[in-house]
Amino acid sequence: MRFIQVGVGGFGGTWVRALKNNRQAKVVGMVDVNPQAMQKVCEENGYDASICFPTLKQALKSVEADVAVVVTPPVHHRAPVVEALGAGLHVISEKPMAESMADCKAMLCAARKAKRHYVVSQNYRYAGDMYAMADLVKKGRIGEIGQVKIDFYKGVGFGGFRADMAYPLLVDMSIHHFDLIRFITGLDAVSVRGQAWNPKWSHFKGDCSSSICFTMENDARVLYNGSWCAKGDYCDWNGNWQIEGSKGTIRYEKGVVTLDQVPKGYGVKKSAVVPPRKLRRIGQDYVLDNVIKSLSKGERPLTDVYDNIYSVAMVFGAVKAVKGERRIKVIDPALQQLIDGKTAARRT
Ligand SMILES: NC(=O)c1ccc[n+]([C@@H]2O[C@H](COP(=O)([O-])OP(=O)(O)OC[C@H]3O[C@@H](n4cnc5c(N)ncnc54)[C@H](O)[C@@H]3O)[C@@H](O)[C@H]2O)c1
Repeated sequence: MRFIQVGVGGFGGTWVRALKNNRQAKVVGMVDVNPQAMQKVCEENGYDASICFPTLKQALKSVEADVAVVVTPPVHHRAPVVEALGAGLHVISEKPMAESMADCKAMLCAARKAKRHYVVSQNYRYAGDMYAMADLVKKGRIGEIGQVKIDFYKGVGFGGFRADMAYPLLVDMSIHHFDLIRFITGLDAVSVRGQAWNPKWSHFKGDCSSSICFTMENDARVLYNGSWCAKGDYCDWNGNWQIEGSKGTIRYEKGVVTLDQVPKGYGVKKSAVVPPRKLRRIGQDYVLDNVIKSLSKGERPLTDVYDNIYSVAMVFGAVKAVKGERRIKVIDPALQQLIDGKTAARRT
């Protein structure tokens, strides 16, 4: 299958390696607004400069391809995705689908109109420990889920596009966790409340800390607390998880999945570490393999736009919620007057 990769800097290297390592993939074009980034990839991977193009338009005119892989910053996802779909290619893009819900809607419509597959790479799903948690839920080991807590606290000194985003954590990072919530629990979110803020020491321009509460389709609540400017490194990239159901709890911390069995009441009867599911491929290699196999068989690939829209809608729902957050004064003026002795308590 013939691929054009758009965006080969930063994380683009992961896709360059994935495409090189997959025997069914052939890179026929590379596009980047930065010629040095393409030169570096060519030198390191033995590609000819003739496959490098400054724009996708020129690449599409010059080479025949089946799939475009878009690894540009989120604000630059929509244009190449829509252009490639319009030219008849299938598309894989990095997460998040885009930097606004309006762009995501336009991309979904473009895929439908072109009758092409558009897949958003949600590589965090494709790891043995995440599969182990999803397997436990599917097998009913914790019964019906009632509450979930995820804590993601990591101090990361990102520069580049993330430093300037309005909500860097929610838009560029939490999409992984929100997609994992759906993957692991098998539940979609129906509503959201939340807050976002930026601690004084943060180097990010936008709010990089959040506390978000989702109500899921079975009325369970998912409490998500995260920060990219934590004063320390308190978890791995998946965050720390506690998924509680009627029969027990699944915990995840730094690569270790634990099942606490609580058949009755609140006491843990048995606790055991659960091994990761063995996967032949993980991360981007898994995504690429799944896309190639699905397209060859004429099947729908995993995390295509029609699935991913439910995850990205959690992101932009959360952004809307934190913008419109309603604050209740803890000490209202009447209570303050009472404390100060200026009024007496009224009977209610
Ligand atoms: N899945 C993951 O774990 C993971 C990790 C890191 C980044 N990402 C995602 O990968 C994407 C890229 O992030 P990054 O860290 O590589 O960013 P980056 O800024 O380091 O690199 C982006 C590259 O795209 C190029 N570019 C920018 N606009 C372009 C355009 N219009 N056309 C062609 N090329 C263009 C830039 O010159 C640069 O080489 C983002 O969506 C990000 O969220 C995913």
